[in-house]
Formats: sequence, C-alpha cells, structure tokens
Amino acid sequence: MQMSERISGFQASPIRRLVPYANEAKRKNIKVYHLNIGQPDIQTPLQVLEAIRNYSKKIIAYGQSEGELELRQGLQTYYRSFGVEIALDDIMITTGGSEAILFSLMTLCDPGDEVIIPEPFYTNVGSFARSAMVNLVPVTSTMESGFALPPIESFEAKITERTRAILLCSPNNPTGYIFSGDEFALILDLAKRRDIFIIVDEVYREFCYDHHMFTSVLKYPEYAERVIVVDSFSKRYSMCGSRIGALVSRNHNVLEGAMKLAQARLCPPDIEQVAAIAALQTPIDYLQEVQKEYQKRRDFIVNGLRSIEGVKCTIPNGAFYLVAKLPVDDAENFAIYLLRDFNLNGETVMVAPAEGFYVTSGLGKQEIRIAYVLNTKDLERSLVCLEAALKSYPGRTI
Ligand SMILES: Cc1ncc(COP(=O)(O)O)c(C=O)c1O
Repeated sequence: MQMSERISGFQASPIRRLVPYANEAKRKNIKVYHLNIGQPDIQTPLQVLEAIRNYSKKIIAYGQSEGELELRQGLQTYYRSFGVEIALDDIMITTGGSEAILFSLMTLCDPGDEVIIPEPFYTNVGSFARSAMVNLVPVTSTMESGFALPPIESFEAKITERTRAILLCSPNNPTGYIFSGDEFALILDLAKRRDIFIIVDEVYREFCYDHHMFTSVLKYPEYAERVIVVDSFSKRYSMCGSRIGALVSRNHNVLEGAMKLAQARLCPPDIEQVAAIAALQTPIDYLQEVQKEYQKRRDFIVNGLRSIEGVKCTIPNGAFYLVAKLPVDDAENFAIYLLRDFNLNGETVMVAPAEGFYVTSGLGKQEIRIAYVLNTKDLERSLVCLEAALKSYPGRTI
C-alpha cells in the first residue's frame, strides 16, 4: 500500500533522525552529550510544577479553542511588560509555537503558494510548509556576514505572484542572529509595498546577550495588518514538554481563519495551560539568571570551538544555538561517526547536521547546528570529544 506523495517528500528531522545511533551508543554504555536538540537542562520554575501537582478539576474537560481567558490575559500583561499593547482577541493559545507556525501557513497560503525565508532556518518549518503544501523560497544568509539579514533586494527579487509572506525568526534558531529595528523596518516596508505578510517567530525573545537587544515586530502598529507573531512557553520557562504557545496578530481575518483550525483541533491541553498561567508569575530574576547562564555557555562553547583547528563559527547574539563549519567532507557522516564509530573514554557527542536547515541543495554540508543547552562541564567534555573525533574521522578535509 502506498503512502502519500506529500509524506514521502518530508525530510526526517535532522535534529532527531540520528536518535537510533545515539540509542545504540547508549546501549553500549557510552555517554552521549546531546547538543543536537534545544532541550534545556534548566530547572522548570517551581510554581509551574506546583500548579501541575495542585491541578484540582474533577474532569479534564475540553476548553476554549482560542485558549483559556486567564492565560490570554496573562500573556497580554506579559506583552505589555516589554511595551507591546495587544487586545485579548488578538491572542490565540496554540499547542506549542509549532502549531502557531502551521496555523499561520495554513491560514495565509493555498497549495503552491510561496513563503520567503532566510536560510539556514528552524528545520521543522520545512515540515510545516510541506504539510500546508507551501513552497519555501530561500534567501541565503552567510556565516561570513554573521548570518545578518541578507540585502533587502534579494528578498524583493524572490517575490512572485504566489508569494504570501516572509517568515523570520529572531533571535534566530539556528544562527543566534537578532534582527535589528532597522532590518525590521526594511522588511516591513517591503511587505507593505508588495502587499505580503510578515510572520516572525519570537520564541527566544528572552535570550539576548551582551548589549544586543530584541526588537518585537509587534512594536510597529502601522504595519499591524500584515504581522503575525509566533510565541512559545517551551524555552522561556524550560517547559518544552508542556506544548503551549501562541499565535498573535492584530489582523482579525488571520485570527478568524486560524480559529477554524483551532476549533477543528478542539483546544490546547488544559493542565498545561494551568501550568503556563503559573509560569507567567515567574519572578524576573529566574529569567535573568537563565540569560546569564546561557551567555556563559555561549562564551564557553564559542571559545572552545574556535580553538579547534579548522572549526569556524560566528558569535551568536541570542537564542542558544550556533552553526559551526567543520573540516569534514560531510557533516551528517561525521555526526553518524560520532555516535556509531567513536567514543573517548566511553563518551561522545550528538550534533545536528545543518544541511536540513537549508532549502538550497548542497548548502550546510560541512556545517552542524549546536544547541548549547548543557552546563559548562558537559560542554567541556563535549568539546574534548569533538576535537578528538575530528582528528580521527577519516573524512577530514584539512
Ligand atoms: C524557532 C523555533 N520555533 C518554534 C519552536 C517550537 O516550539 P514549541 O515547543 O513551542 O512547539 C522551536 C523549537 O525548538 C524553535 O526553535
């Protein structure tokens, strides 16, 4: 029996598809340091765990399709805390930021429509686009330019009559780049001139380092009609498994359209919404501590990687990922080698090959994405393993 053409065209996630190799290594008692996935080792705020323990409803019932009022009110207050005024009706709770991306694409696009995206990008967007039968049209950002927004002309050149939106992520997964106010101004101006939408994934909003500041695209009310923001509780409060996110837009047609999808999937998870309400009460020093911790990890991993011969990476200004270029023939083969053929005193590392973060074929072949979500001691062990594996890997290029 045949499966759909659509599903055959999906790529298995480059973040997760090497898991069987990792499991096999673990079966042989090899310790695997997971730098492949953005799963922080940071403690979830205690009041979130308490809220789950104290969940006292007698029936876990279906809730509102747009999410519970108290949670939307909580988010409204949270957005106000960084200067964004949003009406309650403009906030829809989703099952993770993932669902907000899918709902946005499904609401804006017909099959065959196009969304322009700077590459490398969060690889799962490729799968959401495929689900919505949308073609992602890449504009390449380069390591040489620190993965900054490519020239606006290169976006304009890609606009066709099928283009419905430009999708950005800031702070960016996988590059760590934070788009500046000036860059947003250029993109928004282009969107207005060419009458398309701007979707911005802001799930790493709190993770900005050094003097770098995050700019929310919601701060440009004059472009309100063409902006959609994707949000998530997963990383901010280290509660990835709770699956709570949000879709925010001041365009009522967008919300009305997305509501049809929201009603079809009934409601976001209830217990987790209670947990998310509690998360919004998290004291600010929790987030400040987490931010400091990630900055420390970032400095550690960047210095460590740059001291390995032949390895290149930029300094990410935000989120907790970076793209590193390795002196190898094929980063996927190297990632498999790390798990299947290598260990250093019973330890190894799992990384995500970066090719799947690009649409343009051939790009990212020598690159990996690293999620620096482990403490510095584990990062140190991971770097030692990486350096040793690069020395022994038969496909080393320099
Ligand atoms: C940029 C980006 N957007 C969305 C998501 C998905 O978030 P959620 O767990 O809320 O579905 C991730 C997860 O890694 C991400 O990196």
